[in-house]
Amino acid sequence: MGQLEGRTAVVTGGSTGIGLATAVRLAAEGAYVFITGRRKAALDAAVETIGASTATAVAGDITKTNDLDRLYDAVRARGRGVDVLFANAASAAFVPLEQITEEHFDQTFGANVRGTLFTVQKALPLLNDGASVILTGSTAADNGMQAFTTYAASKAAIRSFARTWSYELKDRGIRVNVVSPGGVETPGAVDIQGGDASFAAFKKQVAAKVVKGRIGRPEEVAAAVAFLASEQSSYIVGANIYVDGGLNQI
Ligand SMILES: NC(=O)c1ccc[n+]([C@@H]2O[C@H](COP(=O)([O-])OP(=O)(O)OC[C@H]3O[C@@H](n4cnc5c(N)ncnc54)[C@H](OP(=O)(O)O)[C@@H]3O)[C@@H](O)[C@H]2O)c1
Repeated sequence: MGQLEGRTAVVTGGSTGIGLATAVRLAAEGAYVFITGRRKAALDAAVETIGASTATAVAGDITKTNDLDRLYDAVRARGRGVDVLFANAASAAFVPLEQITEEHFDQTFGANVRGTLFTVQKALPLLNDGASVILTGSTAADNGMQAFTTYAASKAAIRSFARTWSYELKDRGIRVNVVSPGGVETPGAVDIQGGDASFAAFKKQVAAKVVKGRIGRPEEVAAAVAFLASEQSSYIVGANIYVDGGLNQI
């Protein structure tokens, strides 16, 4: 029997990469999973991968509160509340300080900070007592890197959210934690690097910097999320679990 038998999970950004691997893992642990993302075709493919009997896709953009309402309306209609919320969707674009525009700032903070906040706020009436909320952070929150101004700051905000929300939700037994990946091979990461050829070079750079000597796999992040989602992590609250092959640890 899986660790999440009979539970209901919501995964934002569940159509590809870390979100999809996590949705697959949560379903394998017995959860029924709602996934969201903007592209319907990617969501449909993801439902097929997860298993149509254990997943529902609701297309939507986390920057639009009406879309979040539609997502949670679908969850509410199932009548079981939410036991696991993985607020994972984010925007990643990298621009040097002198070239940052208002649009770039609004895009990154709109998705990563505002979008994550309302993803969690709008789930509150549905979250069952004892639920687990997991937010996707990043090792980037701790480091100064070229062109990372908005992305790194937005992920630092995610880290902060988990501290405040752990406090505010404690009386309902709801735990809030962060999972912070380092470099992970996902469609999004390949896109950011500009395609397969440049991604191969990026992978070599990551391998040279990381204790494990290789880039991470989405399933390795999913394993940490499954742990945080389950009773196995019952005494872990407000924490930040790094899944970074040692990148930020030594
Ligand atoms: N991969 C890495 O190396 C790495 C490292 C550290 C942290 N992270 C974090 O891990 C998370 C997942 O990244 P990933 O690498 O798995 O990326 P990915 O492969 O690009 O997946 C991103 C997912 O989020 C969805 N999404 C993006 N913007 C959205 C929005 N505004 N509304 C709803 N859904 C949205 C995408 O679907 P649509 O495009 O169809 O909306 C997709 O399902 C992000 O929070 C990212 O910052 C990744």
